[in-house]
Amino acid sequence: MTTQTPDAPPVAASVQASAPRPSPHLVVDLATVRARYAELRAALPEARIYYAVKANPEPAVLAALAGAGSGFDVASPGEISQVLGLGAPPELLCYANPVRKPAEVAAAAGAGVRLFVTDSAEDVDVLAAAAPGASVMVRLAVDEAGAATPFGGKFGCSPAEAVSLLRRALALGLDVAGLSFHVGSQQVRPVAWAHAIGTAAQVAAGFGAPIRLLDLGGGFPVPYRDAVPALAEYATTIRTAVRQHFPHRPPALAVEPGRFLVAEAGVLHACVVRVSRRHDGRRWVYADVGRYGGLAETEGEAIGYRLATEHDGGPEAPAVLAGPTCDGDDVLYRDVSLPVALRAGDTIRFLAAGAYCASYASVGFNGLPPLPVHCVDTGAGTSGSMR
Ligand SMILES: Cc1ncc(COP(=O)(O)O)c(C=O)c1O
Repeated sequence: MTTQTPDAPPVAASVQASAPRPSPHLVVDLATVRARYAELRAALPEARIYYAVKANPEPAVLAALAGAGSGFDVASPGEISQVLGLGAPPELLCYANPVRKPAEVAAAAGAGVRLFVTDSAEDVDVLAAAAPGASVMVRLAVDEAGAATPFGGKFGCSPAEAVSLLRRALALGLDVAGLSFHVGSQQVRPVAWAHAIGTAAQVAAGFGAPIRLLDLGGGFPVPYRDAVPALAEYATTIRTAVRQHFPHRPPALAVEPGRFLVAEAGVLHACVVRVSRRHDGRRWVYADVGRYGGLAETEGEAIGYRLATEHDGGPEAPAVLAGPTCDGDDVLYRDVSLPVALRAGDTIRFLAAGAYCASYASVGFNGLPPLPVHCVDTGAGTSGSMR
């Protein structure tokens, strides 16, 4: 099996060794974002790509993807205006967050958004009233085993409910575009897509009319500390399942990738605040960035970022790695191997941190400012926004 391995540098060396800037900060390489988009485009040329803006909403990232031809999965009127503000046409947007107020649906429709994902009768009714005639996809709840950050039942509906939602949407004058699902983020089992595509085919059969669009969601993984299956394996599994389950009139396909497009483009540069041997006998390493400064996905150690320091290659020993705030939950990893030479003031870099990092940072917990983001373009040798 070919895999994507964490041994390959996740981002250009020039970005890793970025110019000195106040710590912490996130550097995002636009050339890597464009390269990942091109890779996904080549692996699944038959699928429309809607980039999940929530993964990294930096204007320069959105502009790079818009320039490459991407559409956008948006979750709120705020994201809609951000993307439209860059000049993206509203037809390239999919409002995929089914939890929203009538005013938010009306605002989206007023801005020209036509495609919505839904998963409840209540939301279908809201759509019919606030976005009459809009195109809808009904989101299925699917098996998320193998995902590092599953949705845990928050979204989607059962196959039987999906049939009834499709019928309800049709009866209320909405345009029934099709079905969607999300197999959970950082999904390391390509077969998860095959099962979900099978479920979608059953729902389409129950509905009794062909669906014209099947949105396969996001979930495509990146190699953090461990290798993950190659993208080609996901593409082959998806293609085979679509042929098998929709042999007569296959729907058009869409994907909503977030993590895959931006994670490996980012390096979070931080430094060590303190190293102390504590009452539990353990070595505690406190960094100047933590759970509330952008590393939200370390909750439950769901995402194990690869770490780099200037002492790499030297002897290592176990440590607890914690963030700087006064919250007891601000502990990143309870048992991680770090260089024994690590001292206060040393740099510590979190690799492949371009997804779900700055967008999750608190606006000021403990008086700490939001994570600054600096976009560079190693492909063009130019520098972008600093915030
Ligand atoms: C509706 C929807 N689509 C796509 C994504 C992107 O998923 P991923 O980053 O796993 O590709 C998310 C992530 O939360 C999501 O909620």
